[in-house]
Amino acid sequence: MRAIRVGTLVVFVFSSSLALAQPVETITLPPPATDGGRPLMQVLKDRHSIRTFKADPLPVPVLSNLLWAAFGVNRPSGQRTAPSARNWQEMDIYVALPDALYLYDAKAHALKLAAAGDLRAATGTQPFVATAPLNLVYVADLTRTGTAAPEEQAQFTWADAGFIAQNVYLFCASEGLGAVVRGLVPREALAALMKLRPEQRILLAQTVGYPQ
Ligand SMILES: Cc1cc2nc3c(=O)[nH]c(=O)nc-3n(C[C@H](O)[C@H](O)[C@H](O)COP(=O)(O)O)c2cc1C
Repeated sequence: MRAIRVGTLVVFVFSSSLALAQPVETITLPPPATDGGRPLMQVLKDRHSIRTFKADPLPVPVLSNLLWAAFGVNRPSGQRTAPSARNWQEMDIYVALPDALYLYDAKAHALKLAAAGDLRAATGTQPFVATAPLNLVYVADLTRTGTAAPEEQAQFTWADAGFIAQNVYLFCASEGLGAVVRGLVPREALAALMKLRPEQRILLAQTVGYPQ
């Protein structure tokens, strides 16, 4: 059993995964277990991309650890597990699950409902994205990039997305999960479905799941 917060209510769900019948406004994730994982050199040795995934959902504690590893808050200053140019922290991680699309709120370590419905298929052009249990979408919010010129915005935001994607790859290699980062994303159509503002730019997506 676990507790999830719906608005001001806390709802108890008798499930260890996020295959919910109804999407909820806020899912408070359990605190990340920051003392686990396999040795870094072994993880680096194992890191690779896969493109065949089981449909099995990720247990909630695994999703919690994954998102924290990706771009969670790791210091009292509010800074994060991945670097960002000038500490812009401009990257948002959208989490496409079977029931809905959520936004990862790193400060609260929670998922906020962004759009109801299954948007997994819309996150890519390759068939596996529709059935893999999780697709992460990396979205740069250019309103957080200060006075940077457009070329610098583009270069730095792409670099920042790469650091997050590598954190996810390494977490997956440590955890026995598979992943592939994807540039093949139908950005315009997906941005419309996600109801993004013009200053929000979809950079990359990353599919995660247990290897087939
Ligand atoms: C920026 C970037 C974009 C990528 N886009 C895709 C993609 O759209 N689809 C895909 O299947 N793999 C994609 N990949 C994964 C690469 O194909 C993969 O990393 C490469 O073949 C090397 O394999 P490895 O990750 O197992 O070392 C992308 C990788 C990067 C870094």
